[in-house]
Amino acid sequence: MAHETLITQTEGATLLIRLNRPEALNALNATLMRELVEVLQAADADSAVRVIVLTGSEKAFAAGADIKEMAAKGFADVFFDNLFGAEAQAIAAIRKPIIAAVSGYCLGGGCELAMLADFILASETAKFGQPEINLGIVAGMGGTQRLSRRVGKSKSMDMHLTGRFMDAAEAERAGLVSRVFPAEALIAETLKIAETIAAKSMVTAMIVKESVARAEETSLAEGLLFERRMFHAAFATADQKEGMNAFMEKRRPKFQDR
Ligand code: CAA
Repeated sequence: MAHETLITQTEGATLLIRLNRPEALNALNATLMRELVEVLQAADADSAVRVIVLTGSEKAFAAGADIKEMAAKGFADVFFDNLFGAEAQAIAAIRKPIIAAVSGYCLGGGCELAMLADFILASETAKFGQPEINLGIVAGMGGTQRLSRRVGKSKSMDMHLTGRFMDAAEAERAGLVSRVFPAEALIAETLKIAETIAAKSMVTAMIVKESVARAEETSLAEGLLFERRMFHAAFATADQKEGMNAFMEKRRPKFQDR
């Protein structure tokens, strides 16, 4: 299906989604958010897709919510529309692993979108920021909560209060980004990592995603209980039997996603 603001491409079992509004540095407008949710939900329901990669251009992953679309709105407009609420919840509810591959500007809603992915890979050119304060607003798609959990209160407060940008090296040191690659290698390296994940048992990968996500969403006690129960539940799968038997028999496992 053709999209106005996205380019999608299938690479083996990976769906690569490129944000594509070059005229606005991939700013997140209503059309892009609607199309992105549609594509992600379709991928989640498509058994041929095992991993999703979300990326932008070399210049920008996304420079934030579309300021031109928001500028004239008042409180009641954005409150009644629940601006970004339904979309952010829909993206957070995707059950398959999502990797954000970030080059260039990753600001405001762009940074929040990257944090809605399961982990972030960055190129050396990536610049992260929550500069909403410069527009007289606060982050609205999870930035104050997710950035604080990823990089700690001090750096999160610094980013939100000053609106400064953080480069890829700082983002990796701070734990926002898991690995950094040269810009020209980012997509190829990301696709290799996606392929590694796609080769795992799908059921186990989805259990892992749900469990790690709980670390951010619940208290430690609830998260540990959830993790333990999911750990126990994994013993009900055929892939657990296969994985452990293969280990003991010193051979590669043949997973069936069951
Ligand atoms: N919304 C709409 N249009 C945007 C945009 C945005 N967030 N960011 C960039 N653009 C547009 C520019 O208006 C410009 O369009 P025109 O050529 O028609 O003027 C085009 O993209 C290129 O941008 P610049 O000329 O500004 O490029 P630059 O290289 O000089 O600067 C930049 C790049 C530093 C990223 C700068 O564009 C910028 O500061 N953008 C805004 C960043 C921002 O404030 N993001 C937060 C938005 S609010 C938000 O995201 C709320 C939320 O939490 C949900």
